[in-house]
Amino acid sequence: MVDLSVDIGIPLKNPLILASGILGSSAGILKRVAEAGAGALITKSITQDPREGHENPTVIEVSEGVILNAIGLANPGVDAFIRELDALKGVRTPIIPSVAGNSEDEFATVASRFEDAGFRMVELNISCPHSLPLSTGNTIAQDPERTRAIVKTVKEVTSLRLIVKLSPNVTDIVEVAASAIDAGADAISLINTIEALEVDPWVEIPVLGNIFGGQSGPSIRCIAQRKLAEVALAMEDGKIERVPLIGVGGVRRAEDVFRFILLGADGVAIGSSILYGDIEIFSDILRGLEQMMHDKGYARPEEFRGKAISWIRTRMR
Ligand SMILES: Cc1cc2nc3c(=O)[nH]c(=O)nc-3n(C[C@H](O)[C@H](O)[C@H](O)COP(=O)(O)O)c2cc1C
Repeated sequence: MVDLSVDIGIPLKNPLILASGILGSSAGILKRVAEAGAGALITKSITQDPREGHENPTVIEVSEGVILNAIGLANPGVDAFIRELDALKGVRTPIIPSVAGNSEDEFATVASRFEDAGFRMVELNISCPHSLPLSTGNTIAQDPERTRAIVKTVKEVTSLRLIVKLSPNVTDIVEVAASAIDAGADAISLINTIEALEVDPWVEIPVLGNIFGGQSGPSIRCIAQRKLAEVALAMEDGKIERVPLIGVGGVRRAEDVFRFILLGADGVAIGSSILYGDIEIFSDILRGLEQMMHDKGYARPEEFRGKAISWIRTRMR
């Protein structure tokens, strides 16, 4: 018998998590993802006030496995979203609201509203690469001190458990992870999208309404794995405190989930691949993961979690 349960700061029945922003804005769809077997659902990122987001087109597959988006954090605002989530009261799968904002105050206010509405854990999206119109980056997660300040503020004003979502668009992701953990992060998720740009050679202008966007999908999986490994290695080496890690980026198959766990992930989130496999991707991957673990003689994820990291460390001495 395979037991897929894991702990990401809260216990989950399995490591598969719906990544923020893909299908996470309507209660009806979140319910369907729960029914497909996901271990947890992270919602669309939510700000204090409603946001319309960027001009269309906002999401495009520019070539096989290469998805670009610049949604611009379109969302109904925290109060309306909490009313929307009311319809999920009977759902037993943990729902983790994603919180976004432009200031410490906004992060604190939105997180507090979710806490008052009964949620136990939120994800802080400090890493959206295109939240402001025409913005080319400059996210909070590119600055270890701003990261520390936001996490610390939310920790001080709530007793929520916090996942902090990091950006790959940095020179040293370990430094930012260290700040987040030092300020009280209970878990780290990585990665958000990678700064990107595509131009239509016929029309001779960029394809996204916002011009600049973030890349996701199968094309970024090895980049996500590398960033995850850097943080996991720093934890193994005792350079930063060990907290649960959630790997995100390009996961499409059970083998990919296995890869992320080998590199130290406790949870594995799936985003863009839903555009290929629909919501059934969760049940398909779960079945595949169980089969793979059974065939390889593993009963629980912790039996192989971080195995590739331990191997890498022996080579780095
Ligand atoms: C259309 C779209 C919308 C997204 N919206 C959010 C969001 O609101 N908040 C967030 O933290 N990440 C958001 N992301 C990033 C994903 O959660 C994820 O980190 C990234 O896409 C990499 O994973 P993937 O390759 O499985 O999609 C979005 C990604 C896409 C493609």
